[in-house]
Amino acid sequence: MQTSEMQKQLLRWFDRHARTLPWRSRAVRRDPYRVWVSEIMLQQTQVVTVIPYYQRWLRLFPTIGALARAKPAAVLKAWEGLGYYRRARNLHATAREVVRCHSGRLPATRDGLLALPGIGRYTAGAILSIAFGQREPLVDGNVARVLARLFGVRQNVKSGTGQARLWKLAGSLVPAKRPGAFNESLMELGATVCTPAGPRCDCCPVRKLCVALRLGEVERLPNTGKRPKSRFVRQRALLIWRDGRLLIRRRRSGESMCGLWEFPSEPVAGVRSTVGERIGSIRHSVMNDQLLVAAHDCHWLGGEPIRQGETGCWRWADRATLARLPFIGAHRKIVGLLVVVGR
Ligand code: ADE
Repeated sequence: MQTSEMQKQLLRWFDRHARTLPWRSRAVRRDPYRVWVSEIMLQQTQVVTVIPYYQRWLRLFPTIGALARAKPAAVLKAWEGLGYYRRARNLHATAREVVRCHSGRLPATRDGLLALPGIGRYTAGAILSIAFGQREPLVDGNVARVLARLFGVRQNVKSGTGQARLWKLAGSLVPAKRPGAFNESLMELGATVCTPAGPRCDCCPVRKLCVALRLGEVERLPNTGKRPKSRFVRQRALLIWRDGRLLIRRRRSGESMCGLWEFPSEPVAGVRSTVGERIGSIRHSVMNDQLLVAAHDCHWLGGEPIRQGETGCWRWADRATLARLPFIGAHRKIVGLLVVVGR
């Protein structure tokens, strides 16, 4: 796919828009100890909360050796207020083990890191890519959301298969050059642009490549296994009559339910018509939307649909054609309504 374009755009965006944070520096290689501490702190805690803790931590324990020598009570005191204290105990235990078994330096291999207390796949990926410049992926909550949208991953992102798919995608995307900056660009995009609610797609450097945006599924992804609250949506269907036939449109590729037919929901460019009385309404549930669609009798006065750009395919359909063509569910009910109300 357009992997290299994605890498280029994300890195360029990161260079311009990354927040300045105390654990980020302009140095290409960063201190593994600092990367490790910041990533552990950031796991369950927001950036604004982490910043002062991170700075104080480094004053108290500037190196792994200093942390290893500290008393447990001093370590817990420095963590006080951050929550999930097991993270602090694991940092301490790992510092001692690194001094004892690795000459005071964090190992630069995946297996070496994974063997240490409190270091899982995510933290290992962060340390290896950001501090050691290795081509290793990482997936956290932000990255999962970005990748699920970018690639249209519909599996539950918390499930085994969903996680496997995301790690595979992340692994195939991470470049050999600047892998750490690339991984951070995904996290940064998730934190500042591709947010859970109200994502700012207009500012996104990879919006042109985003499957969810193209299919109108940004708000529906990632699938976290929770059923979203159903929405109540009112719509109109315009029944534009012309000599006993009705104007209909086939959804084009890229739209949901592409290939299916529908009545227009608003005046059609190029077609002059009246918008008349409501002849009835139908209810229809689709995904998490509960639709109430009002059908309006309209009359053609002149003109044909303008086939500007990709508006789909239009036709005037008689009753036999309406019965035969595949319609979107709600509008199939409207075809039925026509019979009931004697139109
Ligand atoms: N969240 C956790 N680690 C991060 C990082 N390195 N950059 C941005 N957001 C993060």
